[in-house]
Amino acid sequence: MKIFIDSGDTDEIKEAQSMGLVDGVTTNPSLAAKSGKRFKDLIMEITEIVDGPISAEVVAITAPEIISEGEDIASWHRNVVVKVPLIAEGLKAVKVLTSKGIKTNVTLCFSASQALLAAKAGATYVSPFVGRLDDIAVEGMDLIRDIRLIYDNYGIETQILTASARSPVHFVEAARIGSDVITAPWSVLKMLVHHPLTDIGLKKFLADAEKIKR
Ligand code: E4P
Repeated sequence: MKIFIDSGDTDEIKEAQSMGLVDGVTTNPSLAAKSGKRFKDLIMEITEIVDGPISAEVVAITAPEIISEGEDIASWHRNVVVKVPLIAEGLKAVKVLTSKGIKTNVTLCFSASQALLAAKAGATYVSPFVGRLDDIAVEGMDLIRDIRLIYDNYGIETQILTASARSPVHFVEAARIGSDVITAPWSVLKMLVHHPLTDIGLKKFLADAEKIKR
């Protein structure tokens, strides 16, 4: 499973990258706004840190405008993936962008039927938001299971990008199910590293190491 960091904070992207964790980056308008940087500047800065897919979201909501904004965004750097909302106009735009060889990430996916339509339109990635489903008492990971089953039934190549991951449980479940990618905030990625038995074991090894000559 590939790991993307869901962030617009270049310091944390650098930190995660230095640990070898990052295969790519996802951003959204809310994360980009937090950075306080001009959108294009932020994305360009990220391309210098990570050599992998970097999702940058359009803000247009009609197909012609999404296509034109998407073409512009895609021209910024070879690694930029155009993030498009899962609405009817978005699907029309994905069909055209795909025919032009532009990679897309169809975002704000909340149902298996939406995911099937995104694939039909030719999306490179589909982003089902598991945490936001959990928030409304719907089991988010069940959606990943359904999409995996449906995509495998038909040999669909659109990659499942588990998004809105909020905990290490989402991470492990996504890997069990066979999600192609997970994107998670730095706070979650950091949690994955730690285990209390690792800390206890290391403390004991270091204490014992004091007793031997090296
Ligand atoms: C995915 O691409 C989104 O940026 C993100 O995962 C949304 O996460 P949230 O629901 O925690 O805001």
